[in-house]
Amino acid sequence: MFNAKAYSATSATSPLAPTMIARRDPRENDVQIEILFCGICHSDLHYSRNEWSDIMPTVYPCVPGHEIVGRITKVGSAVTKFKAGDLAAVGCMVSSDGTCPACKEGLEQFCPNYVLTYGSPDKNLGGVTYGGYSDSIVVDEHFVVSIPSNLDLGGAAPLLCAGITTYSPMRHWGVTKGKKVGIVGLGGLGHMGVKFAHALGAHTVVFTTSASKVEDALRLGADEVVLSNDASQMQKHAGSFDFILDAVSANHDINAYINLLARDGNMTLVGAPQKPLSLSSFGLILARRSVSGSPIGGIAETQEMLDFCGKHNITSDVEVIAIQQINEAYERLLKADVKYRFSVDMASLKSK
Ligand SMILES: NC(=O)c1ccc[n+]([C@@H]2O[C@H](COP(=O)([O-])OP(=O)(O)OC[C@H]3O[C@@H](n4cnc5c(N)ncnc54)[C@H](OP(=O)(O)O)[C@@H]3O)[C@@H](O)[C@H]2O)c1
Ligand SMILES: [Zn+2]
Ligand SMILES: [Zn+2]
Repeated sequence: MFNAKAYSATSATSPLAPTMIARRDPRENDVQIEILFCGICHSDLHYSRNEWSDIMPTVYPCVPGHEIVGRITKVGSAVTKFKAGDLAAVGCMVSSDGTCPACKEGLEQFCPNYVLTYGSPDKNLGGVTYGGYSDSIVVDEHFVVSIPSNLDLGGAAPLLCAGITTYSPMRHWGVTKGKKVGIVGLGGLGHMGVKFAHALGAHTVVFTTSASKVEDALRLGADEVVLSNDASQMQKHAGSFDFILDAVSANHDINAYINLLARDGNMTLVGAPQKPLSLSSFGLILARRSVSGSPIGGIAETQEMLDFCGKHNITSDVEVIAIQQINEAYERLLKADVKYRFSVDMASLKSK
């Protein structure tokens, strides 16, 4: 066991603050990673403030962070994929049982026994797992992926959650050239959704509540931008979408978007607001539409997504911050004032 520097929250109302945490010494299949950048996901905020108390109550102290890139400093004796000095990345999961049908299909995100990067029971050290707001982490190599060498590291970190969470449902629902695709909410997830939909060749439409983001949406790859609080702009798209990805972090009217789907169209929710959303059955019934959800993605697909990003030169548009600015960054997330992901330069944690 060794000590690592970290930032933690000790209650739903306390700000994140410096702390020390224990990490295990690498076992034979583990790699130890010096964390260089960690993205800030809105899930980190939901979790640290116990907003998902009905589904997964927060265990304090909590150390969020699941968009991790870094350099490997040590490898266990049985590690085959990596060596010390390699760049590597870790997303939202650090373990699973490896034996269930989901794991056998490479869909670890559906394993009933997966271990999330933060907030899951830690079988090795007791307590719960601690995430990437830290200077290091120790992870089984199966849950560690490689970053294409052409990608900027600060901008690559958010691919590990915002990237895979938007890439995976688009692949599942067949987003491709000739399809009309909507992205709701231009935040961390949404802006990655725009980049992927555009790179996959779809006609991409962004729905935003922020008039100030219209130009950025076009620059990021949108073909059209709709201000979602303008009913007449919404009405022009009625019944026309093959697929809509909803990446909104707060309560909002999803029925307005369901009515924009074509017959048999699908809307996938990746946003995870604190309270249940209301759903009108008529929007679904009248055109055999469907609504579904999607969690992150498996390890193989995460590597596929990173390779796709390497090939298409895709990274997140990041505002790099010091860890000391994290509480301010959380407040800005709540105001939808993010362009378009915060990425923490972990060198800042060393300096204090
Ligand atoms: N399914 C999964 O596996 C998974 C993975 C990661 C994250 N998530 C969840 O996905 C959601 C988005 O995460 P994120 O990190 O992308 O968040 P984010 O960067 O804060 O972006 C959320 C965006 O939603 C829009 N929005 C915010 N409040 C709104 C409101 N009251 N009404 C309408 N639109 C609003 C804003 O976009 P505009 O300014 O464009 O309107 C905002 O930028 C969170 O709930 C997060 O927990 C789920
Ligand atoms: Zn996340
Ligand atoms: Zn499993």
